[in-house]
Amino acid sequence: MAISWTRRHILSLADFTPAEYNVVLQTANSFREVLSRRTKKVPTLQGQVVTNLFFEPSTRTRSSFELAAKRLSADILNFAPGSSSLTKGETILDTAKTYLAMGTDMMVIRHREAGVPQAIAAEMDRMGVSVGVLNAGDGQHEHPSQALLDLFTITTLLDQEHPRLEQLQDKKIAIVGDILHSRVARSNIWSLTASGAEVHLAAPPTLLPKLFADFVTPSAAIPSAISGPMGSEPVAEAQTLTRRLFLHWALEPALENADFVMTLRLQKERMTHHLLPSLREYHQQFGITRDRLKYCHPDVKVLHPGPVNRGVEISSDLMDDPRFSLISQQVTSGVAVRMALLYLMGSRTEQA
Ligand code: NCD
Repeated sequence: MAISWTRRHILSLADFTPAEYNVVLQTANSFREVLSRRTKKVPTLQGQVVTNLFFEPSTRTRSSFELAAKRLSADILNFAPGSSSLTKGETILDTAKTYLAMGTDMMVIRHREAGVPQAIAAEMDRMGVSVGVLNAGDGQHEHPSQALLDLFTITTLLDQEHPRLEQLQDKKIAIVGDILHSRVARSNIWSLTASGAEVHLAAPPTLLPKLFADFVTPSAAIPSAISGPMGSEPVAEAQTLTRRLFLHWALEPALENADFVMTLRLQKERMTHHLLPSLREYHQQFGITRDRLKYCHPDVKVLHPGPVNRGVEISSDLMDDPRFSLISQQVTSGVAVRMALLYLMGSRTEQA
């Protein structure tokens, strides 16, 4: 596969270029095809070691990375904090260095504090080792692989053969729920605004502080001239893209004619104050139900990164309704997208 990928670490989507998004989408689509075969395994990362360092609980992200690594024939080590030397006082950095000494090639890191994967990546660079670090969720900061699998889920729905970032140009996407605590929302804001979609955030003011209005600088110049899927075709015309982000403290304006609605879990474990009167009231005002979808585009689809508080951010029947819900497709997409990310990091071309 002729690709050009130079990123050693995947820590944030803030500086991802359209060409990079398209390389991820195209590569993930090739792996989706592999996963549809009878033999769902390729020898791509044979002999390489991928270590899952999850310092915070996880079901789907951790299993999805594990399966992705296995499908690529890598050896996978799974670290579980509860039964590790962390309980004996070892630092996180020393834990990472232990896995490095065992020959780890890539580390997939999740931590409840923002910045931990970045700190480990910086230390690896300082040591001059070529280990790649992938951020699998750091505090309230970012969760790049989740946003990329969301992007893949949406773009393959629009074009199964050739998913591309620019398919989302001028689509309306609503992100609803606990935006304040959500790393998924932050990563999705970067990817979706880079696509030229209109992104509408909706939540009560306590979960959507005004500072989100400045989250992206509308005039921030990112090259929007989308190059070919592999970044190889000539760019038609150099333009800059305006990131379009809107804030709403009510649900209806965000849903109005929306093509996609992303709901987010209320992250009760991160709420340090009483930010909501009650879950019932939250559901009445911001819960996504079939009835509420009448404000949206008739073909609207609903996403949720999981885990779900059924009946709180989304009604139980809507969650299970295949006419609207893309939730299980998101989980399926996750494996192909994470295979793509591990593959790209593993086959990186060294920069001069
Ligand atoms: C999310 C996470 O951990 O950030 N879940 C996930 O990775 N699928 C969202 C959440 O926990 O609500």
